[in-house]
Amino acid sequence: MLPLENYPRIFTTKDSISDILKEHLNRPIVIDMGCGHGDYMLAHCSDDRNILWIGIDISRKRAIKTNDRLLRAQNDNFILFADDGQDILAMMPENIIDTIHINFPDPWLRDKQWKNRLFRPSFVADIARVLKKGGDLSFVTDIRVYADSVADILSLYPHWKSKFDPIVQENIFENFPTLFYRKMSPLRPISYIKYNKI
Ligand SMILES: C[S@@+](CC[C@H](N)C(=O)[O-])C[C@H]1O[C@@H](n2cnc3c(N)ncnc32)[C@H](O)[C@@H]1O
Repeated sequence: MLPLENYPRIFTTKDSISDILKEHLNRPIVIDMGCGHGDYMLAHCSDDRNILWIGIDISRKRAIKTNDRLLRAQNDNFILFADDGQDILAMMPENIIDTIHINFPDPWLRDKQWKNRLFRPSFVADIARVLKKGGDLSFVTDIRVYADSVADILSLYPHWKSKFDPIVQENIFENFPTLFYRKMSPLRPISYIKYNKI
């Protein structure tokens, strides 16, 4: 694996995130949190080239793979962060993001592991800060109890409004363009949540 200096579109917490984003603040910005191998970005980057896609993954190897796949498919409206997602959000200016996608975050199912989950109250505070008013949060998982816990956490905050009723919807799409959808959808129902920051 080449060092990250060889990848001009991949950044970490060592970089100045507000400087990197400064030149993009006049366009819509969408985050794919835990982008994995980049399937979701690959499916959507070319929908609207004016949108800046930001992929974030704690794994450098996956960020590099995403970078290479997106470039091979002639995309240039993206950047990537190879670092912890919450640390990256904490370094971003407020009210700049239009949509945050969180697709199949690691579920950490055992009781002692729950503290490792990405989606916890301090993370909600960071997404609420970086999302614009009217911005969307989309959360997809194959673990129904994780979806229910996200809905429980968000119901504690007055500025989140569910776009779905009931809040957790199962199997509403016939296909969803991520690797983990392909792996998990034959095994169990897929849960979808979408909230709007009001
Ligand atoms: C189960 S995979 C899902 C990948 C992809 N979104 C999909 O649906 O196929 C979870 C991804 O989240 C990344 N991840 C785990 N913890 C993270 C964190 N704290 N910050 C950023 N990415 C994280 C993992 O490296 C992995 O690529």
